[in-house]
Amino acid sequence: MRIIEAANYEDLSRKAADLIAAQVILKPDCVLGLATGSTPEGTYKELVTRYEQGVLDFSQISSVNLDEYRGLSQDNDQSYRYFMNRHLFDHVNIDKARTHVPNGKEPDSDKACADYDAQILSMGGVDLQLLGIGGNGHIGFNEPCDEFVVGTHCVNLTQSTIEANARFFSSIDEVPKQAYTMGIGNIMAAKKILLLASGAGKSQAIFDTCFGPVTPHVPASVLQLHPDAVIIADTEALSLAKEKGVF
Ligand code: F6R
Repeated sequence: MRIIEAANYEDLSRKAADLIAAQVILKPDCVLGLATGSTPEGTYKELVTRYEQGVLDFSQISSVNLDEYRGLSQDNDQSYRYFMNRHLFDHVNIDKARTHVPNGKEPDSDKACADYDAQILSMGGVDLQLLGIGGNGHIGFNEPCDEFVVGTHCVNLTQSTIEANARFFSSIDEVPKQAYTMGIGNIMAAKKILLLASGAGKSQAIFDTCFGPVTPHVPASVLQLHPDAVIIADTEALSLAKEKGVF
């Protein structure tokens, strides 16, 4: 696990875009694993700028997103499909037919999850998986629990995640209570992983992830076992690690 310190959110976004751009340039038909949430917004903005400058070409890229709220349709403005269109897909030359997000409107959760695992397999796996991290150490919607779940599955969101995500909805009651998410096995199968963390609210999660034991109670800690995982964290997100003298 390699940790790169960024001075602030802008610096983090530029550095993350640099690594994704390198991946796209090295393998123009690669499979990108993508994340939503506020952390990667600046990274997507950087990628759009580079596309507009003619530096990046997404025409052969495919993508799979980590997760989707169960019950939300693609055109619901809180769905993760909608987020991806708004922040990236609508602004670059990616073929939307090659972009994949779990189907939140599939009521049969076993089918939704099996279909998504089959989709990822049929694409030959993920070359670079982008991740954010929850304040509780979750990745995708793999919440702290007693054991790692391997494949795509349906999760009940924890109260802390519902509260954290309520800022995107008009009231906390509107936050969906379930989501379909890639499992830890799907994430760990990616050839490269890039996890982003910004702000003091992530400092405990970053400390536990990078310097604590590998445990499903801090799902991101499993990345210590990945052969090519890069963490880009800003100074605030690294503050606890610095305070404890481990970084
Ligand atoms: C989003 C996702 C989540 C977020 C995490 C952090 O697709 O999988 O794990 O990455 O909740 O969210 P932000 O970036 O909003 O702090």
